Amino acid sequence: MSAALDSSAGADNASPLVEEILTAARNRLSKASFGPPTREAALLLARVMGLTEAQLLAHSRDVVPPAAADEFSSLLERRLTGEPVAYLLQEKEFFGRPFLVDSRVLIPRPETEHLVEFALEQNLPRSPSILDVGTGSGCIGLTLALEISAARVVATDLSPSALAVASTNARRLGVTDRVRLVATDLARGLDPTRFDLVVSNPPYIGHDEADELSPEVRRFEPATALFSPVDAHRVLERLLTDLQSVKMGTPLMVEIGFGQRDKVESLASGSPFELATIRPDYAGIPRVAIFHRR
Ligand SMILES: C[S@@+](CC[C@H](N)C(=O)[O-])C[C@H]1O[C@@H](n2cnc3c(N)ncnc32)[C@H](O)[C@@H]1O
Repeated sequence: MSAALDSSAGADNASPLVEEILTAARNRLSKASFGPPTREAALLLARVMGLTEAQLLAHSRDVVPPAAADEFSSLLERRLTGEPVAYLLQEKEFFGRPFLVDSRVLIPRPETEHLVEFALEQNLPRSPSILDVGTGSGCIGLTLALEISAARVVATDLSPSALAVASTNARRLGVTDRVRLVATDLARGLDPTRFDLVVSNPPYIGHDEADELSPEVRRFEPATALFSPVDAHRVLERLLTDLQSVKMGTPLMVEIGFGQRDKVESLASGSPFELATIRPDYAGIPRVAIFHRR
């Protein structure tokens, strides 16, 4: 048992119990109505006590040490301002692996896992060279490097601070030898002819759609990760132009936003790429556009 949960070790009447802290936090969180209050309270308390959620819940009558109670209280206050739980925990799971995340990067979304799944279905050489444009935390590019053991990945981002996070993730996940991180605008300075696959989850929200985002997203996630300059499709439009020198047949797989299907079809029709298909996510929303160089 963790010393933090040893109820015989220094418990006193003033020290709150796990279940007392959880109940009070759940009540406050449910008034704020951001996410599931019971789960969020448990996740945060488990983190500060160095326990899993299951261990915490199995010891609900144990005492929370003062230092942990203070730390929990400060995380709870941040959560009550709307700061996402993933930033408070500095971690988000993607494709079954933990990724460091903080305010420098977009929090990886479950729907982006579809892009990885579809990429793994592509007919690729045994040691493919893969380009991930706008890598953020590195979740797509690093996952592909891990899933395809002989793959070499170049991952770009305009934001050096996002690349610092991707670099930490590459180190933690043990793929630094096969991943190169490049600070650049899309693929500028790279030779597109050397890639067998290009993947991207670019910013695809227009500035005029900002009010439709939840305050949690709008206030806390990086604007450069969310918003496409000029209009929602501008980054995709630029990808279709800037990557036109990829080899014939090379797949370009891009995550798209809700309601963007028609626009994506019309952008492809005037571009050097043919739109092979748009694959839906589990909610049935058209999510991943797969283009091939004509
Ligand atoms: C929607 S986020 C995706 C991050 C990550 N790939 C994911 O799926 O969670 C878009 C990323 O593209 C980067 N970005 C935005 N404009 C860019 C550009 N012109 N060139 C390269 N990266 C860009 C942002 O900094 C951000 O990290």
